[in-house]
Amino acid sequence: MNPIDQAAEWILASRRLVVFTGAGLSTESGIPDFRSPGGVWSRYDPADFDFQNFLASEASREKYWQLATEMYAAIRPARPNAAHQAVYELDRLGKLAAVITQNIDGLHERAGHAPEKIIELHGTALHVTCLQCGKRYERDEIQQRLEQGIKSPVCDDCGGPLKPATISFGQAMPERETREAYRLSSLADLFMVIGSSLVVQPAASLPLAAKRSGARLVIINRDPTPYDDLADLVIPGSAGPILSSLVERVKERLKDQR
Ligand code: APR
Repeated sequence: MNPIDQAAEWILASRRLVVFTGAGLSTESGIPDFRSPGGVWSRYDPADFDFQNFLASEASREKYWQLATEMYAAIRPARPNAAHQAVYELDRLGKLAAVITQNIDGLHERAGHAPEKIIELHGTALHVTCLQCGKRYERDEIQQRLEQGIKSPVCDDCGGPLKPATISFGQAMPERETREAYRLSSLADLFMVIGSSLVVQPAASLPLAAKRSGARLVIINRDPTPYDDLADLVIPGSAGPILSSLVERVKERLKDQR
């Protein structure tokens, strides 16, 4: 059976499908990923952007905001692509228990999912918070301050350092989201990874949790991942075309069943 038909059959048979996404899902929306050739970490050193560094000095905060500004320039105009729309279709068909995403671009919500269906493990670039008092700002407001020459924005209320509401290396993972992600992964009967290199923990242990709890594991990714041997099915290639054909197949099979 061809892989698309096989994946469609498993989706039809599943009652608790969890989709797990990474930056590879958004490259077709014009947002660079991290570890492909030309990705963010081929242009910046991730060590410069860990949380301790951010707290340590004004200079490292300024450097962090330079990268954040570059990434936001790609995120702000981005629209959900065919892959996001296909995942939303699965939700609309009543097949999706949750989308667990490592992405910070908000494109799953823009594709139409109810916010409670989406778990943002690494936070979001769409708003900014004060690390001292927790005050929250819209990202566009802070982007304007950066464009007016502020190099490392501080809080209007308490003067504390502002940071996008994303999770940096070394920063605590969001408690509720992480717990919920493990719970749903352990309950899944089908766990589909789309567009992730599966090298960053703890996110990359979720497919393992799902597999250990008896789920089938499907990986749709352009490049090989460390979990390919564990997967029940690996479909190499671009997420947009693969997911579109997969959802078309699911819809055809649902029609046949009527
Ligand atoms: N279709 C399918 N796969 C793709 C596509 C595409 N259009 N574009 C890229 N990919 C694949 C790449 O082959 C790569 O394996 O997506 C994967 C993206 O991997 P990463 O760039 O490592 O992104 P991700 O797995 O989300 O990184 C996890 O690392 O830097 C941190 O916090 C950051 O959330 C991020 C985390």
